[in-house]
Formats: sequence, structure tokens, C-alpha cells
Amino acid sequence: MKAVVQDKYGSADVLELRDVERPTPSEDEVLVRVKAAGVNMADWHMMAGKPTIMRLFGVGFRAPKQRIRGSDVAGVVEEVGSEVTQFVPGDEVFGSARGAFAEFATARVKRLLPKPEGVSFEQAAAVSMVGYTALQALRADDVSLDALGGQRILVIGAAGGVGSMTVQLAKHFGATVTGVCSTAKVALVRSLGADDVIDYVHGTLQGTYDVIVDTAGNRSLGTLRRRLTPKGRLVIVGGEGGGSVLGALKRNLRAAAMGPFTGQKLIGLMAMESPDDLAIMRDLLASGAITAPIERTFSLAEAADAIRHLEAGRAMGKVVVVP
Ligand SMILES: NC(=O)c1ccc[n+]([C@@H]2O[C@H](COP(=O)([O-])OP(=O)(O)OC[C@H]3O[C@@H](n4cnc5c(N)ncnc54)[C@H](OP(=O)(O)O)[C@@H]3O)[C@@H](O)[C@H]2O)c1
Repeated sequence: MKAVVQDKYGSADVLELRDVERPTPSEDEVLVRVKAAGVNMADWHMMAGKPTIMRLFGVGFRAPKQRIRGSDVAGVVEEVGSEVTQFVPGDEVFGSARGAFAEFATARVKRLLPKPEGVSFEQAAAVSMVGYTALQALRADDVSLDALGGQRILVIGAAGGVGSMTVQLAKHFGATVTGVCSTAKVALVRSLGADDVIDYVHGTLQGTYDVIVDTAGNRSLGTLRRRLTPKGRLVIVGGEGGGSVLGALKRNLRAAAMGPFTGQKLIGLMAMESPDDLAIMRDLLASGAITAPIERTFSLAEAADAIRHLEAGRAMGKVVVVP
């Protein structure tokens, strides 16, 4: 099969489209014929091996153990493992897989759900990681989604993958949402339902908020805390600042150190894959309550360009690779 493979960490130039052996699903896995694969900044982090500290956590020190990039997937079950009862060949599924920038990828059954009818493969492939990340950011500090009603929420990076989903979910659960983005992306953020949009190129952050979800990560904790109510929650999702060793973790560590000395909650998010969150995303996608704003699709041969597009901060909503 064709797959986008890397043998070492580095820039997008390390990604090569090659013929490799088709993977075999283990007993609790299925083989998915990939129809679409969502592209996430996580793919860039895994490609680059940055921040370097992540290499200490079993992903491979000198080179990635998993050589094919891509985790968000939508496709058709081709083959099932010996213990799989949930799916049969021909089922249309979506969720997370290993090595989705390929014609075929293996996935654990608990990480997949049936794709809703009427939802395209591209849409379904674009909601998994950004969906569970946005849901967990909004629920951070054990807040229920229903408690978001009436809260004032500021979403920084509102036109990115996680940000565009956070805006839609926060609106869906009744919050008043202000999105922050660069000038060219203002119309997109408005179209996602934001009550207000701050174009940070021409304006500055103003007002105070009950919750700030920061997905762009280049503002100081002091700047963000000044925009938070005395008991407000700052949820640090990510961003590409902080240097090549610690990356976004640097701000999370500062937030953890400062936490005990303030009534504000300063939370560094570590989002985890969640079957329950995937089910929430499936229902909201199927009902039309949310959508994946797909800016562009790239072919498998163009996967490196898709990652370069994200790395440059140019993506508006989501980009998807289609084999
Ligand atoms: N904590 C977790 O568990 C978790 C989970 C998923 C993702 N993340 C992290 O969250 C961050 C956002 O992910 P995403 O998928 O939403 O990324 P994305 O789609 O690329 O969006 C990021 C947005 O941030 C803004 N931005 C500002 N400065 C930037 C810069 N120097 N480089 C790139 N973008 C910049 C861009 O919008 P403007 O043009 O409007 O500035 C862009 O739309 C990433 O750092 C990712 O690694 C963390």
C-alpha cells in the first residue's frame, strides 16, 4: 500500500510517500481502508520530535517508533481481528487509528464508532482529536458541559482546529463566546457562531471572562489572568511557544506553580482519547449541531504540504488528507 513514512525526526521534508507492507490487525483491531485522515498539530509534533521532552515518553528517542503519521481517520472496515464482534467488513467508521496517512490503517475497536449516515468521510475524519480536546478543555476542573450556560468564554486560536471546535461546542452548551484570531480568519470565527470576535492584529484583548481556552499559546500568564474573573478558569491547551525542549509545557509548569497562590484556576490540559467524547461528537455531527470547517483537502502525496500549512499557522479550521 502507499503510506507517508518517516525514518527520522525533522521538518516536513522527512515525510516520504512510499510503498510499504499493508498492516495486519491484531485480535482486537480492524483494518480500515482510509477514505480521509484529519491533520493535527500532533502530527507535526510527532514528525518533528518536538518538544524534545516528549521523546522520553516512549514514542522513540532518535526516531519515531510509529513511522507512519496520522491518527484521525474515517474509512471502511476491510478486515477484522479474531476477537472483533462490533464491526464487519464494509462498515463505515471513524475515530483514531495508527498511521492514517496511508491507504490502510489499523485501529483498536474501542477507538472507532460507526460513521453517521449523511456525514462525509472528510467531516468524520476531522472531528476526533479536536473534539475530545475541546470537550475536555470545556469540562476542565470537573465542570459539566451543562454548567457552561451563561458563562463568558474567550477562545484564543478560535479559527484553528481545536479553537473552531471549542467555539462551536461552547455555543452549543449555552455560553457566550468571544473568539480571538488573525484578520483573515474573522469571518470564519463569526460563521461558527461566536458572539464576538477580536482581531488581534488590529485590536487587543478586552473585558473579563469566566473561562479562557488558549489554543495559540503565545501570550503570557499575566496577560491572560488579567482577562479572567477572580474565580475564572484558564485552560492552556497548546501553542508553539516555550522553546524546542519543553514547548507548551513550560507555561503549564508556570501555571501549576502559580496555582496555589490565586483564586483563579490555571489548568494545563493533557487531553486523552475518549470513546465517550467520540460518541458526543458523533451525535452532534449527525444532528448538524456542529460541523468540521474543512478549509482544504490534500492528497496523500501532498501530506507534507498539509503539515507545512498547519505549521505556518495558516489553517482555517481543518485540513484533511484524502488517499
Ligand atoms: N493539550 C492537549 O492535550 C492538546 C490537544 C490537541 C492540540 N493541542 C495543541 O493545541 C494547539 C492548537 O492545535 P490546533 O490543532 O488547533 O492547531 P491549528 O489548527 O494549527 O490552529 C492553531 C491556531 O493558532 C494560531 N496561531 C497563533 N500563532 C501561531 C503560530 N506561531 N503557529 C501556528 N499557529 C498559530 C493560528 O491562528 P491565527 O492566525 O488566528 O493566530 C492557528 O489557527 C497546538 O499547539 C497543539 O499541539 C494540545
